[in-house]
Amino acid sequence: MALRKILNDNHSTLRTRAQEVKNINSAVLNLIDDMIETMREADGVGLAANQVGVPKRILVASDCREDGGVYELINPQCEKAEGEEVGVEGCLSVPGQYGEVPRHQKIIVSALNRKGEKIRLELEGLPARILLHEMDHLDGVLFVDKAVRMLDPEELKSDEEKSDEEKSEEKS
Ligand code: NI
Repeated sequence: MALRKILNDNHSTLRTRAQEVKNINSAVLNLIDDMIETMREADGVGLAANQVGVPKRILVASDCREDGGVYELINPQCEKAEGEEVGVEGCLSVPGQYGEVPRHQKIIVSALNRKGEKIRLELEGLPARILLHEMDHLDGVLFVDKAVRMLDPEELKSDEEKSDEEKSEEKS
């Protein structure tokens, strides 16, 4: 496993629609392992492949449970979405900025796992928000495009006073 460099907001790969994965080969599996390591090292809760310069439809995301499990999704698709909730988000590719983003509250996502098996997830609240943020990355969309309000520096200052754990929930 190895750490990958996380691209920042102006990089064109972040604005590229990622391509479907046709073949789950060793390069794809290595990429997933590296993405998990990179996400954890950066204290993030999610990472999309184009954030590390690979425009393929792959994402990793915390399952938000205590055991620290991670979803590894290949070619994820949102099958159903309902409800709406506004919450604060940040992004490892948009350092230092946070904004309020409306997202669907409940989603059903289908994807392939690393064995190529079809899986289906029903999520609500924070894990749903994280997956929606990461799926946007795969379409070249950043949270700043959807934010209804960016937090101002005063609010950011109070944000920095939060514990590391609270802050890490907001960066994906
Ligand atoms: Ni992000």
